[in-house]
Amino acid sequence: MPEYTRITDVSPRDGLQNEPGVISTADKVRLVQLLAMSGVDEIEVSSFVSPKWVPQLGDAAAVFEQLRNLPPSAPMLSALVPNERGLASALEVNQAAGRALIGKVSVFTAASETFSMRNTNATIAQAIERFVPVVRLAHGSGLLVRGYISCIVACPFEGAIAPDAVRRVADNLLQIGVDELDLGDTIGAGTPSNITEVIRAAPAGRLATTLHLHDTFGNAPACIRAALDAGIRSFDGSVAGLGGCPYASTPGRRAPGNIATGLLVRAVREAGYCCGVSDSALEQAAEHARRIVEGRGGLLTE
Ligand code: HMG
Ligand code: MG
Repeated sequence: MPEYTRITDVSPRDGLQNEPGVISTADKVRLVQLLAMSGVDEIEVSSFVSPKWVPQLGDAAAVFEQLRNLPPSAPMLSALVPNERGLASALEVNQAAGRALIGKVSVFTAASETFSMRNTNATIAQAIERFVPVVRLAHGSGLLVRGYISCIVACPFEGAIAPDAVRRVADNLLQIGVDELDLGDTIGAGTPSNITEVIRAAPAGRLATTLHLHDTFGNAPACIRAALDAGIRSFDGSVAGLGGCPYASTPGRRAPGNIATGLLVRAVREAGYCCGVSDSALEQAAEHARRIVEGRGGLLTE
């Protein structure tokens, strides 16, 4: 029996946050509904961040409001929260829904000081300090907490990042009690060897570690195989490869986004592992994803 691998689709959040312009709330809701039928284990729906920083996701509460009638058997829904204010918005969603519609919140920092500053206007230490009450209050409300680390291989501003820098941030996130580490190759600089090195450097202990790859240079499937060999059993993907990191783009050519979920699923299966995804249902979500970003200059790879 092949071993199970957990798949999270982050397209409604990581994909759409990078789209030029704002996708309608109705189209976002439909994307999540289609993903909910695709057999993925988790959907990262949106972010409760400042709409001045990320206007594309300014309708997070409205999106969740329209997802209230998803059945309790639907995949786990999660959202990014950078601070206590973001967590309060997530908890309001659950209170209004009368249940834990959002089952997990994700705090996020980086292994690069410059990226941390540019992304959240805080040093890594300040960000971790902000997360302390977020983790405590989220756990008090029965939510799981994912801790993202961006720039695990390279930073768009600082260049190569040492695995030791990732280990230090991972240690700090584990100390404040996150339930899961998510290692983010923000600009898609991963290769099988540097990804293996960083996985070995970041101590997951009994905690799950998820790998979050952007597929800028087409190396992500090979990195998935290396990560499976190194013991990782949880991956993020983005249906239709939605997104495209602005930091990895050049004028006139937007970089590919996260590894396309379909490509991720194929890489997992080819390596001898299984997952819960139905190819035909995922394709319906991918078709919708392609349609809603059509004409916006995206590069879709699935
Ligand atoms: P700041 O400007 O330092 O914060 O931003 P502030 O506390 O001074 O507040 C500024 C304004 O934002 C205020 O409003 C606050 O009320 C508001 P104003 O008085 O100007 O009208 N505000 C908020 N509004 C809504 N929700 C909130 C919130 N907090 C403050 N939670 C802050 C600090 C963290 C808020 C800002 O930098 C921010 O929102 N950053 C978000 C950045 C982001 O979402 N980046 C993308 C996600 S990370 C990523 O993509 C990487 C990942 O995919 C992994 C990988 O690939 O590497 C996860
Ligand atoms: Mg990302």
